[in-house]
Amino acid sequence: MARTALITGISGQDGAYLAQFLLGMGYRVVGGLRRSSSGAIARLHERLHELQIADDIALVDFDLAEITNIMRTLETVKPDEIYNLAAQSFVALSFDQPIYTTEVDGVGPLRLLEAVRQLTPTARFYQASTSEMFGKARTAPQDETTPFYPRSPYGFAKLLGHWATVNYRESYGLRASSGILFNHESPLRGREFVTRKITLSLARIKHGDLDVLELGNLEAKRDWGFAGDYVKGMWQMLQQDEADDFVLASGESHTVRSFVETAARRLGFDLEWVGAGAYERGIDRRSGKLLVRVNPALYRPAEVDALVGNSKKARQVLGWQPAIGFDELVTLMAEADERRVRDNSVRV
Ligand code: GDD
Repeated sequence: MARTALITGISGQDGAYLAQFLLGMGYRVVGGLRRSSSGAIARLHERLHELQIADDIALVDFDLAEITNIMRTLETVKPDEIYNLAAQSFVALSFDQPIYTTEVDGVGPLRLLEAVRQLTPTARFYQASTSEMFGKARTAPQDETTPFYPRSPYGFAKLLGHWATVNYRESYGLRASSGILFNHESPLRGREFVTRKITLSLARIKHGDLDVLELGNLEAKRDWGFAGDYVKGMWQMLQQDEADDFVLASGESHTVRSFVETAARRLGFDLEWVGAGAYERGIDRRSGKLLVRVNPALYRPAEVDALVGNSKKARQVLGWQPAIGFDELVTLMAEADERRVRDNSVRV
């Protein structure tokens, strides 16, 4: 019989790619979806439609804030594997909504673990942890042994989810693994995250749909990989005999500035920076047009300056190997957004 996977957060980038991967492996996939009104549901399906898998997934209403809903879902779905991807995942928003973020990203996984312990204790469990937990890291690259120093409510909420996962594994023998994933992007990335904001905005500027791209901190460094590679690692973690924690990362770090430059080049601009700090601007040498402007309102109250991961353990134990590097990733995203803007089909 086909194994059943429950993916919470099915409407997000990772939910869509993971569902596609698991369907390909012959799983029955059930996707948990948080909706506030029926009108909003079509938008929540967009990523599944883009991957042409919307009809292959059973959807259930799911909310990490509601324990009765979690318990009912486990009882009816009876999952063999649970991937907890549901979260308030935008770091900047967590400064405005710290309590909600902690409720969903920290107490949420704890609720789910407690329900798993009581109702489906043999199910394998994946917690979507994050490199944001390393925050103001003192050493580089970061791996499973690096001390945590979260710099946002999102970071400390996720740290609670991570330790709850470790603790339920050690206390109750749950097969619960925590994947500490560095940033992973794709053409299905939400528009609020910096990579997608850059590729979509530059594509729009090129086609006369937008005036200028406004950004915050251009010097932040991130370890960016391709989401399609990372969801495979999530699955590989749950296939191990022993549950454990693993870092997934590309091992390369680039600045936001360098992401902008690479994307601009792919879209045919010749970007030149003028000015400095809050007054810095990016101009297209060929046309003289202003492309990028710094807006200090987009700076964060506390920043994670630089992240770079060491995924040696995952590569050795799981055999995990990312296929897509930085340049290819930027190209993939820039081309997808240019196509969407040209065809007037920006839905995701
Ligand atoms: N979003 C955004 N928008 N970020 C900007 C902007 C802007 O206009 N300008 C500069 N940045 C900088 C941010 O300050 C940050 O340093 C960096 O770009 C990346 O920001 P995001 O793309 O929003 O991602 P993140 O690194 O904060 O968090 C993402 O990665 C985590 C893994 O480390 C999210 O996907 C998290 O959910 C995930 O856990």
